[in-house]
Formats: sequence, structure tokens, C-alpha cells
Amino acid sequence: MGTVLITGANRGIGLELVRCYASLGDTVVACCRAPESAHELNEIAAAHTSVRVEQLKVTEPASLAGLKSRLGEQTIDILLNNAGAPGPFLDKEPQGALDFEAWHDTFAVNTLAPLHVLRQLRSNLARDGGGKAITVSSQMGAISFEMPNTMYAYCASKAALNKVMHMAADDFRTDSIAVHLLHPGWVQTDMGGANADITAAQSAAGIVKVIAGLGLDDAPSFMTWNGEPHAW
Ligand SMILES: NC(=O)c1ccc[n+]([C@@H]2O[C@H](COP(=O)([O-])OP(=O)(O)OC[C@H]3O[C@@H](n4cnc5c(N)ncnc54)[C@H](OP(=O)(O)O)[C@@H]3O)[C@@H](O)[C@H]2O)c1
Repeated sequence: MGTVLITGANRGIGLELVRCYASLGDTVVACCRAPESAHELNEIAAAHTSVRVEQLKVTEPASLAGLKSRLGEQTIDILLNNAGAPGPFLDKEPQGALDFEAWHDTFAVNTLAPLHVLRQLRSNLARDGGGKAITVSSQMGAISFEMPNTMYAYCASKAALNKVMHMAADDFRTDSIAVHLLHPGWVQTDMGGANADITAAQSAAGIVKVIAGLGLDDAPSFMTWNGEPHAW
């Protein structure tokens, strides 16, 4: 058993990841933007003393600094960078225009924040022999994945995320921190929609199993929720 820190823990895949790790008896630091309205998450925390709800807006450096100071040098065995946003759809933007602000926001959540969280929590992950830094990416960030859609900002931000984490893997290896990316499947959440292939509970259960099978010395990987390697 260890300590798992999860971002975007109030709904969707993040919430189910909290449920999984709590039921395994791990200590869970469950981070969300608005703990006061995270009702389902608060219910899990009320039922499991090992679950602690923490405020974190991943795109706000001051919010992350606050979390870091509350954590101090507490060991984190698994960081789960899960928070993400779908971003704008190009066909909804005015003809010929590009919404720079919406693109910036998308990259801030999906690409910059996971790297910032990883960097801020480096010393926590490095304690007690090292840890696993897992980021929830998407098949839509794979250059090899072809599916006509207009989520240019989302796809580009996840492709950039994959590159950023692949680079970080080399750097963080010196502290015995293994960096990996996961595609969670097409999941029935607010983001994935009701027609998606799998439930958030199925995705989370698969992710937990895949993470358990990753070694601290493993080269950076991009895996699917059910344990298949994904093309970059
Ligand atoms: N669902 C799918 O089919 C699918 C497929 C591939 C990849 N993914 C990835 O899986 C991850 C989880 O997605 P999901 O389907 O569970 O989505 P979701 O249900 O829409 O949940 C998104 C989570 O991210 C949080 N979040 C967004 N911006 C944030 C910010 N600035 N600071 C802190 N938290 C923030 C949300 O918090 P609030 O409630 O406060 O907004 C929420 O907890 C994402 O990285 C997503 O890209 C999902």
C-alpha cells in the first residue's frame, strides 16, 4: 500500500480512480478545484479515513504551491495527472478565426499543468526509493491515430503532452521516478459522453492494474487502459 495523488478527482475517471485506490487501502490525496461542491468525492472521503480531499486548480501556480506546502515532504508513490479539458471545437469557432484564448486554456490544462504538477512534486515522488508519475493522455494525441474530428486543440494538446512526458522521463529517471502515459479508453464521462465504450469504473480498474504492472525502471510507455501498448 502506498500514497496516490490524483488530480481532477471530483468526477469522471478521476473519481473512480479514487474509489479504486481507496478500496485497495491506499492513502489517497484527492485533488479538485472546488472541494466544497465535490459531493461524491466527499462521501468517499467520509467512508475512508485514508482519503484526503485537497483543493487544486492545476492551471494556477499559487494553488499548486499551496498544495505543495500542505504536503511538505510527504511521500507520493503514484502521481495520477488526470485533470483535463476537451477544449474548443474548430467547427464552432467563427469562420476563418481561431480562438487563441480557448487554445491557451486547453494547453494550460492538458499539457503545461501535468508537467508543472510533476515538477512541483518531484521530491515527494523521489522519496522512499522513487515513484510512478502517470499522466492520462488520449489516443487522440497519437499522430498515428486517425479519426476525423474538429477537436484540434485537444488533439494537439495531448500530442504535446505525450512529447513533454517522454522528455521528462529521461530527466526524472535520475530520481528513480518512472514517467508513463495512458489512454483511458473512450469513457462514459462528461467528456466522453453517454455513448462511449466503457464506464469510468471499468477504465479506472484497468488503469490501476496497468500501473501496478509498471516497474520503476521501465522506459516511458504509452499504454491503453487494458494494458496494450499504444502507438505514439
Ligand atoms: N472520457 C474519455 O473518453 C477520455 C478519452 C481519452 C482521454 N481522456 C482523458 O481522461 C482524463 C479525465 O477525463 P474525464 O473523461 O474523466 O473528464 P471529465 O469527466 O470531464 O472530468 C475532467 C476533470 O478534470 C478537472 N479539471 C479540468 N480543468 C481543471 C483545472 N484547471 N484544474 C483542476 N481540475 C481541472 C475537472 O474538474 P471540474 O469538475 O472542476 O471541472 C474534472 O475533475 C482527461 O485528461 C481526459 O483528457 C478521457
